[in-house]
Amino acid sequence: MKITTKQWNEIERLAKKEYTKNNDPFHDYEHARSVSRLATFIAKKEGADVIVCKLAGLLHDLAPKKRGKLHAMESGRRAKKFLKRLKFDDEFINTVCSAIIYHDGSRSHLAKTLEGKIIYEADKLECYGPIGIIREYGDVFWRTKDHYQAFENLLQYLQKYNRHFFTKTGKRHKKELRKFSLKFVQLVKKYRKL
Ligand SMILES: [Fe+2]
Ligand SMILES: [Fe+2]
Repeated sequence: MKITTKQWNEIERLAKKEYTKNNDPFHDYEHARSVSRLATFIAKKEGADVIVCKLAGLLHDLAPKKRGKLHAMESGRRAKKFLKRLKFDDEFINTVCSAIIYHDGSRSHLAKTLEGKIIYEADKLECYGPIGIIREYGDVFWRTKDHYQAFENLLQYLQKYNRHFFTKTGKRHKKELRKFSLKFVQLVKKYRKL
């Protein structure tokens, strides 16, 4: 499937509008664009469908994140509606949406396609390294307005958070970013002892 520049511009314009409605600074249009870029990068290295990964990455968080809700499944449903409006064919729409519906950490093992695994990894790569530190701290601070709670939560999170990845490329980059996260914790602990 080919997507023209004009189509991409329209997709990006409409996606931005949808993400703005969700009012979540950590699952916003910029996060979706990063996931799309990372997914494109992994797809090229792993021989997956680049267009499917680029598009699924951009649409993967269309539904707001709510506790207890199947956010990835709902995002897939919204992506289907979104792409139908733009008149893509059903087979392509289904391929894109099935790459979105299992990007939740706890359900990633259900992602059967390589593109689905890549969307999960591209999304989770945003949880490691410098970006992961800013996102995790910011997310908790945004909700609680409590710096100390957000910071202590961050230290716990950086030590424990280590998801299973599937692709060689994803694993390599996760390792590099996680090393940075653990170094950050180590330095905090060192300076707390002075
Ligand atoms: Fe998500
Ligand atoms: Fe996400």
